[in-house]
Amino acid sequence: MSERARIDKATAATMSELAPGFPRQIGPASDTSKHDIIELQLRPTSHLGQTARDTLYTLWDHNIRPLAKGTEFDVPEADKREELFDATTRFLLLLRKRSAAAVSVDEANTSPHLGPENNTAAAGTDEQAKPKKKKRKKVDKLDFGPDELVGYCSFRFDVEEDAEVIYCYELQLAISGQRRGFGRILIAEMERIGRERGMEKAMLTCISANVPAKAFYAKMGYDLDEYDLTRITSPTKASKWATTSTKVGYYILTKHLQTPI
Ligand SMILES: CC(C)(COP(=O)(O)OP(=O)(O)OC[C@H]1O[C@@H](n2cnc3c(N)ncnc32)[C@H](O)[C@@H]1OP(=O)(O)O)[C@@H](O)C(=O)NCCC(=O)NCCS
Repeated sequence: MSERARIDKATAATMSELAPGFPRQIGPASDTSKHDIIELQLRPTSHLGQTARDTLYTLWDHNIRPLAKGTEFDVPEADKREELFDATTRFLLLLRKRSAAAVSVDEANTSPHLGPENNTAAAGTDEQAKPKKKKRKKVDKLDFGPDELVGYCSFRFDVEEDAEVIYCYELQLAISGQRRGFGRILIAEMERIGRERGMEKAMLTCISANVPAKAFYAKMGYDLDEYDLTRITSPTKASKWATTSTKVGYYILTKHLQTPI
């Protein structure tokens, strides 16, 4: 089968072919209430409503926009949404199921799901201008239908420099969901899907100023791709990419998924 045919076949696969047994329940984690049930789902772009799309974009904007300033990733919202919601993109979603009890706890708390900066990020929005909705504002920011978004990983199948890859476009956790092992769960699941579809490697780009993400990807076994620009311009630094700075705005990272024969 040609490279392109294998990519098209993987892209055409149904969600239950890609992720049998989903949705899968994660938790409750030991440090959360018994109401804190988190579910892992896989959805294509076509199964995302407008609220879901707004929430996925909002989380990217909150996490990455400040780091992207002055780089080629600082793109207008419409362009980012177009890339984010390409028809071939699939989304691994971590959703906190809201039981009636959990919702009332959320509403009573002023739990900063996006972190304290969210107050300024939301300034001037229509939502804030409506006094009735003020109490639920922070919860609504990560609203996902009846549930709440904890994090997501979006990916596509593609050919990059002759290699068949599963390309991670986004890996985003809400601040309240970070450092709880959810990033590890999402990326491992994406890699499993890529491996089972015969992809040679998992690939992604990481803004070089994103120090925590570099530490995370290094821990998850990612390394500079052979076509990474920093590797081409400074080969001796290749092994130190995760702990050094560079003038190049981003790294291309990969992890091989198939055991060499
Ligand atoms: C980067 C990110 C995806 C990591 O996900 P996470 O759920 O927070 O990470 P995990 O809890 O699964 O961490 C797994 C391991 O990665 C490493 N790691 C994760 N975050 C780290 C950090 N901030 N600093 C150092 N190491 C880190 C640790 O070794 C960790 O294991 P440990 O907690 O047992 O020490 C997440 O923090 C995030 O969404 N950040 C904001 C958005 C972003 O930068 N996305 C990546 C864009 S390329």
